[in-house]
Order: sequence, then structure tokens, then C-alpha cells
Amino acid sequence: MRLLRNGQTRAQHSSRHSGSSRARILWSVKHSDWGTTMLSGKRILLIVTGGIAAFKTPELIRLLRKSGAAVTPVLTRAAEEFVTPLTLSALAEEKVYSDLFDLTDEAEMGHIQLSRSADLVVVAPATADMMAKMANGLADDLASTLLLATDTPVLVAPAMNVRMWQHAATARNAAQLRADGVQFVGPADGDMACGEYGPGRMSEPSEILAAIEAMLADGPLKGRHILVTSGPTHEPIDPVRYIANRSSGAQGTALARALADLGARVTFVTGPADVPPPEGMDVVPVTTAVDMLGAVQAALPADAAVFAAAVADWRMASASDQKLKKSKDGQPVLEFAENPDILATVSQMGAGRPGLVVGFAAETNDVIENATAKRARKQCDWIVANDVSPATGIMGGSENAVTLISADDAESWPRMGKDDVARRLAARIAAELDGK
Ligand code: CTP
Repeated sequence: MRLLRNGQTRAQHSSRHSGSSRARILWSVKHSDWGTTMLSGKRILLIVTGGIAAFKTPELIRLLRKSGAAVTPVLTRAAEEFVTPLTLSALAEEKVYSDLFDLTDEAEMGHIQLSRSADLVVVAPATADMMAKMANGLADDLASTLLLATDTPVLVAPAMNVRMWQHAATARNAAQLRADGVQFVGPADGDMACGEYGPGRMSEPSEILAAIEAMLADGPLKGRHILVTSGPTHEPIDPVRYIANRSSGAQGTALARALADLGARVTFVTGPADVPPPEGMDVVPVTTAVDMLGAVQAALPADAAVFAAAVADWRMASASDQKLKKSKDGQPVLEFAENPDILATVSQMGAGRPGLVVGFAAETNDVIENATAKRARKQCDWIVANDVSPATGIMGGSENAVTLISADDAESWPRMGKDDVARRLAARIAAELDGK
């Protein structure tokens, strides 16, 4: 028989929280063959709000239970239009809460206690309306009251129409929630139930599970927030052309994953990369260097920041909003403006500077000499130098050969897979932060 965190058997727990005999029968289905998994002993308060993506919530509960977590579902009234309490109760083997003014529930477990009884509060799907309530501290139903009363970490999985996600009000609310320490998984790009395409679709249950596991993982970087930039930037020339570089985003992606594996909360700011972003973290997609700087500043404060992105040094002084046409007057003349140096800006920011700032140096000649000078010029703590000459096959390839340069040391590592470089660098970052 499985024991709950407080030492009760599930049957004892069920009889204490039971709302109906029917639910009690469903709870008697045991999953003792699941064994110990990553979320064993963890309790998730799962708030389900009213969006079509709520149809994915049963699968999320199934995955959470399989990973060993206990799940307490809370439904808003609108959520009940999309998914039934009985379905969630059966899968969670728990009572489902839904009404702030249910006196029976209050007598059994007050809403304040309910909000504090979990290791993590997950809002999936999170509608634009619920995000707006959260950002403004409204508490007019059980779900929003729990979110205002809780002192445990909160993860939201937004789900809404693309225009609602892109609306200035939602962008403001998301920025406010991030500043308040709320973590995000998604939304993803994709076809939406409303027939449109774009960002707003709720992340898949497996991705939400990965984010939850990352947030609850024990490891040397638990409790640390680390910012990682990755990929190239694209600088538009006109609506159909842009300046880019050959960065695939592989090294930055591997590094973000390795840091999350050590328990860090990672914010991953990525340009348009070839490799898909890692699961289980807050991914902020950007296009240009100016966007990337904005996303980095919005993601601070952080304990450490690693700048693996290959940022374009130049953008068009003024990108044309119409396609440039061939002209009889000869070649077009492109005028450039210098992009902000994101690494140097963060390294030199004074108050609020992350405790450890790590840059990358992409060089094709005099690698160590140039990278050493670059570290000093930009004033980051470490710089990871690599030779990106075409002959090395590093840019766009799966291996890397790096030299880790600090103020008083330069350590060359043998050529190895980018995943191995990432794990080694993540371990060094963990050791460095451990001393701070
Ligand atoms: N970087 C940045 N913002 C920029 C340019 C670079 O944050 N506008 C960061 C990169 O993410 C990397 C480091 O600075 O961590 C060095 O990037 P690199 O391309 O090697 O150097 P540059 O600054 O572009 O200098 P140069 O072109 O002279 O080599």
C-alpha cells in the first residue's frame, strides 16, 4: 500500500477528504506498481482554468501520478465546462476542489491551508483571464484566492488565442508575473482550436511534466536562477531578407539542459535556432539583438548568466518595410547601426549584476589571445573560447573544443561532444556558485 507524504495510506486520506462515495470507489484503484520516481513524495496543487486546452489536463495528471506525485486538482467554474471533476478525481485519486464557498470543503481543509499544502502550484491551462487576475492580485474564486494565498512556487502553462497572447495587456501581465517569480512553460507555437496559427497553444503534458520535474529537482543548483542566451539573431533587411550567422544553438541548448539537470531554474532566451529548445524551462524566443537585450533585462535578477548566443554585431540602420527591388541605378547600399552588446551591458551593470557572468568567444584565429582580450574588454568573469573556423566543424556541428578563461587562468579542454562540454561547464558553474 502506498503511503502519502504525511504517513497516511491513500485509503485513510481518501476517507478524510472524500466528497462522494462514487469518488471513493474510484480512488480505490491503486498504482503501487509505479514504484519510486522523480516526483515521489511531492504534492502538486493543479489549478485548471477554463480553456479548450483543459482537455490535456487528464493526461498531465496521469503523467504526474506516474512520476510519483500526489495531485490535488482545483477547477474554476469555466474549467468545468471543458473537463469534468469526476475525470480528474479518478485520475488523481483525490478530491477535486472547485468552489470557494463550499462549507464542507472549508471545514475539511481551509483554502489557506490548501494553498500551502503543496510543493508546487501549477496552473494548466492558464487563461489570459487567470493571468490577469494573478498579475493584479485578484481573488474572486477559489483558484485565484489560492494563488494569492500561496507561498509555494507557481508554474503557469498559458493557453489562449494567439492575438490574446500577443495583446499588450497579456504581455504586461506575463512580464509582471515573471517579475513576481512565477515561472512559465510555453506557450508553444502551433495550430489552435480557433483555426489560427501562432504562439498561444498550451505546452504538451510531457513538457509541463519536465518543467515541474526541473522545478522540484534536487541538485547543487536548486534554488538558483540562471539565464542562458543561445542561437543566432536575425536582423531584418526588409520583410523577406535578414542578416544571420551559422549558429545552430546546440551548445547553448545543451548548456541550459545541463544547468536544469543540476536543479537550476533556467530562463532560456533564444534566437531562431536550428535545434528545438529544451523542455522544462522558461523559453523566451526572440529574433533580433535588440529583442534579446530586452528579454535578458526582463529575466534578471539571476544568480548567473551565460551568453552562448551568436549575436549579430550589426543591424540595418533602418530596415525597409517593403521588399527592396532591383534598380537600374546599381547595387543597393546597406547602412548599418551597431547592436547593443548584451554581454558587456550585463557584465557592467553594477547593482543587480548576476554573481557570475560567462561569455563565449567565437574566434577564427589567435583564439586564446583574442578571447582573453575580449573577456577583459567586456568585463565578464569567464569566457569560453572556441575556434569556429570552418575546418574545425564546431559551428553547426555536434562537438566543441573550448578553453575556459578567467581573470587568472586559461584551461583547455579536450575536444568532446557539446553535451559533455555543457555538463562540465554546468558543474563548474555549480561549484563557483556554491562558494558565493
Ligand atoms: N555578445 C553579446 N552581444 C553582442 C555581441 C556579442 O552579448 N552584440 C556576446 C556573445 O553572446 C558572446 C560574447 O559576447 O558571449 C562574444 O561574442 P563574439 O561574437 O565572440 O564577439 P563579438 O563581441 O561579436 O566580437 P568580435 O566580432 O570582435 O569577435
